[in-house]
Amino acid sequence: MLIDSRLEEYILSNTSKEDPLLAELRRETHLKVLNPRMLSGHPQGKLLEMISKMLSPNKILEIGTYTGYSGICLARGLKKGGHLHTIEVNDEITRFPKKYFEKAGLSGSTTIHCGDALKIIPALNETFDLVFIDADKKQYLDYFNLCIKKMPSGGILLADNVLWSGKVLKQADINDPETQSILEFNKAMVSDSRVETIILPIRDGISIVRIV
Ligand SMILES: C[S@@+](CC[C@H](N)C(=O)[O-])C[C@H]1O[C@@H](n2cnc3c(N)ncnc32)[C@H](O)[C@@H]1O
Repeated sequence: MLIDSRLEEYILSNTSKEDPLLAELRRETHLKVLNPRMLSGHPQGKLLEMISKMLSPNKILEIGTYTGYSGICLARGLKKGGHLHTIEVNDEITRFPKKYFEKAGLSGSTTIHCGDALKIIPALNETFDLVFIDADKKQYLDYFNLCIKKMPSGGILLADNVLWSGKVLKQADINDPETQSILEFNKAMVSDSRVETIILPIRDGISIVRIV
């Protein structure tokens, strides 16, 4: 936890409530799926929804679908006729996002691609106004390098877990490739003249990266 627990409670009680569908998905994920902590949850999901609604994107790319929580939040901001592409490598889990995208009335505006994002992104013939990176931490820079080729000037890329439970403050252990990669990603974002970036200290840290 990055901030005082009382402040966290205050923030929650002064943030719009989680709607019943997302609460149901969160509960089912906790009951039936391994590592439920991976789900964005509330209020991070609300932040994703708000950013998407502010941008009103035509095309969204999400890397790391898991059970579909963040995908629903992002897709709610799509421009009319817009589409969210989301990529998940674990085929045993995709029945959850399928079920909940349908329940959310988003079946027609979402596509779940099952496979490795590093192989699927190059094959997508689309331009993305909004990208959310939330898959293998060791591959963040690779995802970024693939995505930036498919984003216009002004496009927004969000990356989750960029504070990695505070481990970014420690010297990365040689046996800790995740921390090493998150450090490399953050350094690359702040040094790359093609983008401007800010880290929000929400949950595990979210970067907002804007293509200049
Ligand atoms: C943190 S979870 C995503 C959580 C989800 N975005 C949410 O907020 O509800 C990360 C997901 O990325 C998937 N993943 C890991 N490596 C991947 C890859 N190379 N390509 C696609 N998905 C991957 C994992 O199987 C896992 O379901």
